[in-house]
Amino acid sequence: MSFDYINALLKKPTTRTPIWVMRQAGRYLPEYRATRKKAGDFMSLCKNPELACEVTMQPIDRFDLDAAILFSDILTIPDAMGLGLYFSEGEGPKFERPIQTLADIEAIPSEVNNDLTYVFDAVSTIKTALGTRAPLIGFSGSPWTLATYMIEGGSSKTFAKTKSMLFNDPKMLHLLLDKLADSVIAYLDQQVISGADSLMVFDTWGGVLSKSNYLDFSLSYMQKIVTGVKAKHPNTPITLFSKNGGKHLNEISNTGCDGVGIDWTVELSEVEQQIGHKVAIQGNLDPAVMYATPDVVRAEVKKVLSQFKGDTGHVFNLGHGITPDVDPENMKVLVDSVHEFSAK
Ligand code: CP3
Repeated sequence: MSFDYINALLKKPTTRTPIWVMRQAGRYLPEYRATRKKAGDFMSLCKNPELACEVTMQPIDRFDLDAAILFSDILTIPDAMGLGLYFSEGEGPKFERPIQTLADIEAIPSEVNNDLTYVFDAVSTIKTALGTRAPLIGFSGSPWTLATYMIEGGSSKTFAKTKSMLFNDPKMLHLLLDKLADSVIAYLDQQVISGADSLMVFDTWGGVLSKSNYLDFSLSYMQKIVTGVKAKHPNTPITLFSKNGGKHLNEISNTGCDGVGIDWTVELSEVEQQIGHKVAIQGNLDPAVMYATPDVVRAEVKKVLSQFKGDTGHVFNLGHGITPDVDPENMKVLVDSVHEFSAK
């Protein structure tokens, strides 16, 4: 089976620029909201493989997307570690038992796949539903991004607790990050065994660190993950995405990953200047363009496509997830115009 999405990541020829969209299965789709209601809440949806499969397939059925992404969340690992994940309406994710002490970290198991079988069951269920229609992306959070939620107890603007630990007791933070990296390797390994065709690591908060701290506390653990997963699955493409990581693309692209995700704060032409075509590039339309008229969406798509000069190696995406208040009709405009303007 030959897929443009996989070929682009491996820098093989494609018939046109492939596109998928972060959060493509989400609240902007009325059918997603209906299934979530049926499940009760977001985590119950994640923990039900049949319903997780149903929502994964919704954007695939509606749009001509080049890849499906497992419907789940990055916080499944900390949840399985016993931190008690819940979502409070309008406030995002929260943990009942955040990490506070060294003893808390020492008590964490460094592999939690036994409590994540619902994720692997979802992967195999989705894989069967997809057949040869599209490849399936598996994913995890980066150790640094997971650690911020585990230490803050939820979302944060300042990362005060995590950064205090980073500066006051770096060894303690490293212990947590190392355990997370081991868990992520085992988790991604099992997703591939269950049927994932490619993998993505979301480092949503890597961009809040200084350069040297980014390298020490975020990238080095993603490096460990790439090395660990590639040792088992050398042919499974891995994409690393550090939001606001435009200043670190050289270092990211030297990890042995196949693709780098970029947000909209850097231009694709700058990225090509920085790293050439060493790895594939995923991105990077500003998600806010999706609030504009269809004509503007088409014009902005053209702009992004024209900035990329390579023959292959571009995976179109937004620079971050699609937001809940976008009109699904604009998603169709986005997907179709990427294909139309890039057809060879
Ligand atoms: O992209 C996809 O379609 C796959 C599914 C996916 C979700 N979350 C579904 C989701 C993926 C890949 C994620 C990753 C994720 N989760 C990240 C990294 C990516 C990023 O956005 O930077 C992060 C930081 C999380 C943690 C998390 N989960 C947050 C901050 C939120 C938002 C809370 C809110 O109310 O907006 C979630 C919830 C979440 N994850 C939703 C979805 C569809 C919305 C939940 C709902 O239905 O209410």
